[in-house]
Amino acid sequence: MTARQGNVAKDALPSPFPEGWYFVTSRKALQKERLIQKTWMGENIVAWSDDSGRVCVADAYCPHLGSDMGPATGGCVRDGRLVCPFHGFEYDTTGQCVATPYADPPRTAKLQVYETHEEAGLIFAWWGIGGREPQWQLPEDALDQTGWSGLSFWKARFPGHPQETAENSVDLAHLRYIHGYDNVERVGMKVDGPYLWSCFNFRTVRRIARFGRLTLDLTADTCVRGLGYSFVQTHEHTIGLDMRIWILAVPVDGVEIELWIVMQVGEIRSPGRWLVGLGFLPIKFRAPIMNKFLAPFQHNDVLQDVVIWGRKRHMTRPRLARSDGEIMPFRYYCAQFYPERGEVEQRLPDAPSVTVQ
Ligand code: FES
Ligand SMILES: [Fe+2]
Repeated sequence: MTARQGNVAKDALPSPFPEGWYFVTSRKALQKERLIQKTWMGENIVAWSDDSGRVCVADAYCPHLGSDMGPATGGCVRDGRLVCPFHGFEYDTTGQCVATPYADPPRTAKLQVYETHEEAGLIFAWWGIGGREPQWQLPEDALDQTGWSGLSFWKARFPGHPQETAENSVDLAHLRYIHGYDNVERVGMKVDGPYLWSCFNFRTVRRIARFGRLTLDLTADTCVRGLGYSFVQTHEHTIGLDMRIWILAVPVDGVEIELWIVMQVGEIRSPGRWLVGLGFLPIKFRAPIMNKFLAPFQHNDVLQDVVIWGRKRHMTRPRLARSDGEIMPFRYYCAQFYPERGEVEQRLPDAPSVTVQ
């Protein structure tokens, strides 16, 4: 992609950083690496956890004299505190400086922290326009993990925008054309403030070594909560295979995004004839094995989209076919995530009905 194409795509949407909750890291990665540093929403951030499990996501620059506190510079976590590599100031997980090697900690030395939320071991942080407080929440209820495989993680990085990736959840026409799904049937779509629900049925055929050719009849139920969080629950009707898929778009630097696909599969108690090989396995091994087999198909579907996303241009006034359905209601839903740009609403057509059943 040329620089010009990249700029056109970026400029066509109001901001590369729409307000919302965005994935930072997993608790597992945090436990393994102890201190994580990344570019997130155009900011250099660090994340760590103290001994009681409290997570802090904060700007990586020390308020003392500005050192970068990431691991590459020598920043580290000691006794649950982030220790700056320059003069040794120590910060607790509220972001407050609580100790220095040579003087009382200055009260004003406080990191800029981001509010966090954890779901199923996934850690999100709130990105507010102008630093404002969270305007809505991610799901508070813990997901029951009984009978579910662990999470599998995969990511792609490409020039893109979270609105463009989220738009695919209502773009049913591409499901058939790009992904080859059959019998695509819309069940409904509903918008409630920052929450959007979309549901459709489809059939797909997968070829899996040892299991042969699998025909899957699925319902995909998607909850979008801002442009960084889509949670898809799929149910396969012939054998009762359930999957949970988090599709998490994270703007990196204003040009590229990371798109994380996090998946888990529910326990399969009565595998159908085409899963006969699975029937020999103890039940507790079936879900992890199916997650391993099915995850690459999910990734492949996303890679088919990435080819398009990484090269496309955002069309503010798309010339839609009659059956394209909910693209413009989706755009109207998105306008709320750019509160600093009132003209977004003016560029959109009259508010359409946002409930389609
Ligand atoms: S710059 Fe961090 S302790 Fe001085
Ligand atoms: Fe897609």
